[in-house]
Amino acid sequence: MKTYLLLCSVWSAVNAINIKLSSSESVVWTFVNSNRSISGKADVPGGIYSDLQANYIIGNILAEDNDVLTRWVAHELWTYTAQFNVSKEVILNSSVVHLVFEGVDTAAFISVNDDTPIGSVNNMFVRYVFDIKDKLKEGLNELKVSFLSPISAAKVRSDKHFAAPECVPSVYNGECHVNQIRKMQASFSWDWGPAFPSVGIWRPVYIEAYNSAIIRSVTTHITKKKEEWVLNIKTYFETSMKKTQITGILSATLELEGKTTVKKWIPVYETSQTDGTFVVELEFKISEIQVRTWWPNGYGEQPLYELVVHFASDTYLNESSHKSLMVGFRTVELIEKDAAEILGNTTAGKGLTFYFTVNGHPLFMKGSNWIPSNILPELGERQTDVVDNLLKSARDAHMSMLRVWGGGVYESDYFYEKCDQLGILIWQDFLFACAMYPTDPEFINTVQEEIEQNVLRLQYHPSIAVWAGNNENEAALVGNWYDTTPEFEKYKNQYIKLYVETIKPIVQDLDPGRRYLVSSPSNGRESERENYVAHNPYDPHYGDTHYYNYLADNWNMMTYPKTRFASEYGFQSLPSLVTMKTATNNSEDFSLDSHYSVHRQHSPNGYSFIELQMNSRMKLQKDDPKYFEKFIFYSQISQAMAIKTETELYRQDQANWYTMGALYWQLNDVWQAPSWSSIEYTGRWKMLHYYAKDFFAPVLVSPRLDASGEMEVYLINDRFVPILEAKITIQFYNWSSPAPILTKQYPASCGPLTAALQPNIDGTLMGYKKEEIFVKFSLLATGIRSPVNYVFPVPLKRVTTLRKPNIEILVSNFVMRRHHQNLEYTVQIRVDTVVAFLWLETEVEGRFEENGLIVTEPQMIVKFLCKDHVSPRILEKSITTQYYLH
Ligand SMILES: *[C@@H]1O[C@H](CO)[C@@H](O)[C@H](O)[C@H]1NC(C)=O
Ligand SMILES: *[C@@H]1O[C@H](CO)[C@@H](O)[C@H](O)[C@H]1NC(C)=O
Ligand SMILES: *[C@@H]1O[C@H](CO)[C@@H](O)[C@H](O)[C@H]1NC(C)=O
Ligand SMILES: *[C@@H]1O[C@H](CO)[C@@H](O)[C@H](O)[C@H]1NC(C)=O
Ligand SMILES: *[C@@H]1O[C@H](CO)[C@@H](O)[C@H](O)[C@H]1NC(C)=O
Ligand SMILES: *[C@@H]1O[C@H](CO)[C@@H](O)[C@H](O)[C@H]1NC(C)=O
Ligand SMILES: *[C@@H]1O[C@H](CO)[C@@H](O)[C@H](O)[C@H]1NC(C)=O
Repeated sequence: MKTYLLLCSVWSAVNAINIKLSSSESVVWTFVNSNRSISGKADVPGGIYSDLQANYIIGNILAEDNDVLTRWVAHELWTYTAQFNVSKEVILNSSVVHLVFEGVDTAAFISVNDDTPIGSVNNMFVRYVFDIKDKLKEGLNELKVSFLSPISAAKVRSDKHFAAPECVPSVYNGECHVNQIRKMQASFSWDWGPAFPSVGIWRPVYIEAYNSAIIRSVTTHITKKKEEWVLNIKTYFETSMKKTQITGILSATLELEGKTTVKKWIPVYETSQTDGTFVVELEFKISEIQVRTWWPNGYGEQPLYELVVHFASDTYLNESSHKSLMVGFRTVELIEKDAAEILGNTTAGKGLTFYFTVNGHPLFMKGSNWIPSNILPELGERQTDVVDNLLKSARDAHMSMLRVWGGGVYESDYFYEKCDQLGILIWQDFLFACAMYPTDPEFINTVQEEIEQNVLRLQYHPSIAVWAGNNENEAALVGNWYDTTPEFEKYKNQYIKLYVETIKPIVQDLDPGRRYLVSSPSNGRESERENYVAHNPYDPHYGDTHYYNYLADNWNMMTYPKTRFASEYGFQSLPSLVTMKTATNNSEDFSLDSHYSVHRQHSPNGYSFIELQMNSRMKLQKDDPKYFEKFIFYSQISQAMAIKTETELYRQDQANWYTMGALYWQLNDVWQAPSWSSIEYTGRWKMLHYYAKDFFAPVLVSPRLDASGEMEVYLINDRFVPILEAKITIQFYNWSSPAPILTKQYPASCGPLTAALQPNIDGTLMGYKKEEIFVKFSLLATGIRSPVNYVFPVPLKRVTTLRKPNIEILVSNFVMRRHHQNLEYTVQIRVDTVVAFLWLETEVEGRFEENGLIVTEPQMIVKFLCKDHVSPRILEKSITTQYYLH
C-alpha cells in the first residue's frame, strides 16, 4: 500500500463539487401554470401553496374555507423552472455530473435545457439522482420540473390498481385515492386536517460533480459487550460508474470524553456494483469509560459524540467526500416474552410482554403521537422554530417517546437531531396509513427505494427505537373498515407482499439491531405467528393497541380496557379562541352551528361526542350567554381529564398487567380546528398538555375509585432508585372552602421503575356526602417533587357546594431570567373559595408553568414563562380567568 501517500491525501483533498440549486441571487426559480395565466417567482425548496401565497395570488390558506376555495391549485399543472450558470470546468473536470433532488412532491417530469424529459419522479420520500453530464452546458442552463396534478395522478393509478377505500368521508372535504401515490397521506385530508394536495420541490436540489465516488449515507450499529461499546460503521458509497474500481482511503474520527479522539483508516479497493454503489465497514471498540451513556428524557443525559467519516480518492488526489454525524451510545430492545414469567399467573400473564429496555432497564414509555408540523411539507422543513417548540413542549411534559405517525412524512434531519438532543425516543411508522395499498411492480419498486433510502438516512439516530410497517392497516383489514371482506384473501396477500415480503427484509438487512413491527397496532410476535394478520390485532395480551371510545364515562378509570402498550388513545377538544382568531375574524363564526365550526369538524358525528362526554360530567346550559366560550373551555377540561384518567390507569397497570407504554393521540395540530391534540396550531398548550406535565411526572401519587366506589392509591416511580419512607397525605375538602376538613397521612413506598398499590390506606368514602367533597393527594418524600392529585367522588355536575369565587391576579414586579433563557414572571392567585379548573389565559406569548388548577389554598403562585420582556402590569391586565361553575 502507498500508505504515506494515502494518509497525505486525507488532508489535502477538497470535497466533490456541490452546486446548490436552491433559490438565490444566482439561481432564479419561477413557477407557471399550464396556460401561463399564473406565474411568479418561486422559493425552492418550497411548494406551490407557499409560492402562491408569497406572490399574493392566494391568501392565508388556513383562514376560513380556504382549504376548499384554493383546491383549484391542486388540479392545475404547474411547471417550475430554474436558470443558473455553470462553468466549463464543472462539466469537463468531472466524470460524474449528477442532478440530485432530495425530495419532489410528487409526480413530475424533469428536463434540462430542452423539453425532452431526462426522467420522471413519483415518490416524494425518495431521493432522485439524474445523470446530466451530457445535458449541461457552459454558461446558462435551464432546469424544468413539470408537475402532474396529484389528484389526477392518484386517480389514473386507481383506475388500474384500485385499493380500498373508495374515498375519505365527505365531511373531510378531501380527495380520493391518496394510497395510490407516495405522497404524505394526510395531504388529501384527515379527520384532524384539511386537504392541501401540494406540489413542489420540498427538499434541496443540487448538482454533484466528481470523479470517483461520494459517501451517501453512514449507518452506525452499536452494541454493548461487557465493559465495551462496539461501534460498527457502514459507509454507503455512490458513483454512477458501474463495475468500476474505486480506490482511496476511508477514515473515521470519533470524538470521545475529555476532548480525546480515536481515529481509524482503511484502504478502499472496491468494485462498484451494477447500480454504482458499494459499502465499506469499519469498527471501533470503545471502553465504556470513554463515553457517557445516552438516556431517554427523564432517565439521564443525552451525550452525543461527533463521528466524521471521510473518503479521499487515491486516483483523484484532489477529491474527497465526508459525512459528520452525532452518535449516542445506548441500547434499545423491545422485549416480547412469556408474560406469566413476569406477572406470576396466567390471568394477566397470558400472552407476551411488550416493553422497551434502554441500556438494559425496562422503561415505561410516556409520550404522544406526532403528526406533520405543517400541512405543507415545505413548511415542516423550514419552520424549525415550530419543531423546536413542539419537541421542547414534549420534553417539558416528561415525554420519553413520540410516535411519528404513518400518515405524515419521514421528518427532517433537524427533527431527529433535536430528538437525539432532547432524549425523545421515536417510534417510526413507515408511511402507510388507514388504507389498503396496491402492490403492482411500479409501486413495489418505488417503495423499495423509499424504505432503503430512509432507513439509511435515519438509522444512526440514537432516538429511533423501533420501526413499524404501517398505521392500523392490519386492524382495518381484519375489522373490515373499508368493505374488504369480500376480497379478504386478495387484500391479505397484498398486505403480506408489501409489509412482510417487501419492507421487512430491507429494514432487517440495513438495520438488524432494531425491531421491525409489521403494523401499529399489532400483536407483535403473535401477529407474526398468525401469518401477519391476527384474528384480533387489539388483543390486550399482546403488542400495542389503539383505543377510542367516545360513549363511555371517560373520567372513570374502570372504563378502559387493559393493554400491554397503548400507542394511541384520545379525545377531541376545541382550540382556544385566540387560536381560532388566526383563522377567522367573523364573530358569527364563533358558535357551534356556524358554517366555520361545521366546516372544521371532520367527525361525521359533529360535536355530539364532545357534548356527550362533557354532559356526563359537567353542566352547561344551551342558553348560557357564553355558551361557545364555555364549550371550548369545557371541551378542554373534558379532554384533559379523560386522557389523565386513561394515562394514569396505564401507569398503574404497570403493576398488575405490565402495561409499559402510554402514547396519547395526538401531540400537535395542522390547523385551527377541533382535534385530539394537546398543543394548538399556534403552539399554545391546551389544558391537556399542562395535565400531561403532571400525569407523566416521574413520581406520581395516583388514586382511583374502584368498582365499589372505594379509593385505591398507587405510587408510581420512574426512577432507578426506590422510594422509601415517604408519606402520602390525603386531605378531604369541601368544595365550598379552601381549608381541608380532614387530613390523614400514610407511609408510602415503591420499588424502582414500577408502580405499587399502597396497602394500608383507608380508601373509604362512607360517611361523607360525596356531592360536597373531593379528596386531594400529595407525596412527602425527601428530595422528590411530585404533583398533587385528586379524586372527585361524583360527577362535577352533581356537586352541590361549589361557590362563585372572587379571584385576584397579581403579577410581581420581580422578573427572573432562567436557564432556558425564558423570562419568569410570578403570578399570584388569591381566592376566597375552592376554584375548580381555574384556567389562566393571556394573549402575551408564553405559557404558565401550570394551568387548569384546582385551587385549594387562599393564595398560590404560578409562574409565567416567556421569551420577550413585557411589563408586569401589562401582563397582569392581560390575564383572564375561567373556571368551572354551574
Ligand atoms: C449567467 O451569466 C451571465 C453572463 O455572465 C449573466 O448575464 C447572467 O445574469 C447569469 N445568469 C444567472 C441566472 O445568474
Ligand atoms: C387559464 O387557467 C386558469 C386556471 O385554470 C383559468 O381560470 C383561466 O380561465 C385560463 N385562461 C385561459 C385564457 O384559458
Ligand atoms: C478543473 O481542472 C483544472 C485543471 O486541473 C483546474 O485548474 C481547475 O481549478 C478545475 N476546476 C474546478 C472547478 O475544479
Ligand atoms: C482533480 O484532479 C484531477 C487530476 O488528478 C483532475 O482531472 C480533476 O479535474 C480535478 N478535479 C477537481 C474536482 O478539482
Ligand atoms: C384578524 O384580525 C387581525 C387583526 O386585525 C389580523 O392580524 C388577522 O390576520 C385577522 N385574521 C384573519 C384570519 O383574517
Ligand atoms: C394475577 O396477577 C395479577 C398481578 O399480580 C393480579 O392482579 C391478579 O389478581 C392475579 N390473578 C389471579 C387469579 O391470581
Ligand atoms: C360543605 O359546605 C357546605 C356549605 O358551607 C355545608 O353546608 C356542608 O355541610 C359542608 N359539607 C361538609 C361535608 O363539610
